[in-house]
Amino acid sequence: MMMKTPQNCIEVVTIQKYQNIPNKNKITGYMIVLDDSYLSSIMTLQEMIVEDLKDSNIFQSDSAEFIQRCLKTHGKIIGIIVKDRLIAFRVIYFPGHFDDNLGIELAFPEKILSQVAHLETVVVHPDYRGNSLALKMNYQALNVMKTLKYHHACVTVSPKNFYNLRIVFQLGFIIKKLKIKYGDKLRYILHKNLEEELSFNPKDSIVIPSTDIEAQQNALQQGLVGYKMHQTKEGFAIVFGQ
Ligand SMILES: CC(C)(COP(=O)(O)OP(=O)(O)OC[C@H]1O[C@@H](n2cnc3c(N)ncnc32)[C@H](O)[C@@H]1OP(=O)(O)O)[C@@H](O)C(=O)NCCC(=O)NCCS
Repeated sequence: MMMKTPQNCIEVVTIQKYQNIPNKNKITGYMIVLDDSYLSSIMTLQEMIVEDLKDSNIFQSDSAEFIQRCLKTHGKIIGIIVKDRLIAFRVIYFPGHFDDNLGIELAFPEKILSQVAHLETVVVHPDYRGNSLALKMNYQALNVMKTLKYHHACVTVSPKNFYNLRIVFQLGFIIKKLKIKYGDKLRYILHKNLEEELSFNPKDSIVIPSTDIEAQQNALQQGLVGYKMHQTKEGFAIVFGQ
């Protein structure tokens, strides 16, 4: 039976693929901003995703306390509901002047730290992958940030997380730093200025395999930024330029 479109729906999504197979029957998902009644569904979905990971290093779980803060005061969480079940979510966090503001890592002037919003955890249930649901939730997340007058979006992504990196490049983020975060995990720190569209047409771009951490860190130290990626025989490579 078709669910009625919820009043708070921000986008209706059509699920074209289920368990990686094109659907015969149309499945409809409803994208909404979640309230705190979804806390346990978010934690259950996150646990399932963690159990399913091939490499636990690519994912940093959020605590229930952090999720609660994002639901209530310091963020927003966008979710997709299919047949009354949460199948995907995207966490947005407003770090303000807390120490975890990624603007500090990127040496933003103090006065703009309050204009920084983060894209934090994003997950899609494995059965529903391949429907660009993360990309769709991310577009809505950037709209939420702009509506709330945030000017800078930041996100961390593992250099091993091909799928997520490809999505954040599609959104126009650029890699500005590569370092250890969350205790022991290598992460790119990416930034997008929400007020301007960047276009890259560098004369001397360099392509570095994603596994060559030192060469990428050197390029970033020289003032280059990573702005796109290519699939290679070995995996993938990042294109750096200015
Ligand atoms: C990152 C993530 C949210 C993307 O999911 P998504 O929106 O469904 O991805 P897309 O629709 O862009 O997928 C595009 C293609 O990549 C494939 N794909 C996406 N994520 C995949 C994964 N983790 N493993 C294998 N294949 C994957 C899809 O099946 C699809 O294949 P197709 O082109 O043959 O159809 C999802 O992979 C995920 O939940 N990963 C685990 C959690 C995670 O790493 N989150 C990011 C860090 S917070």
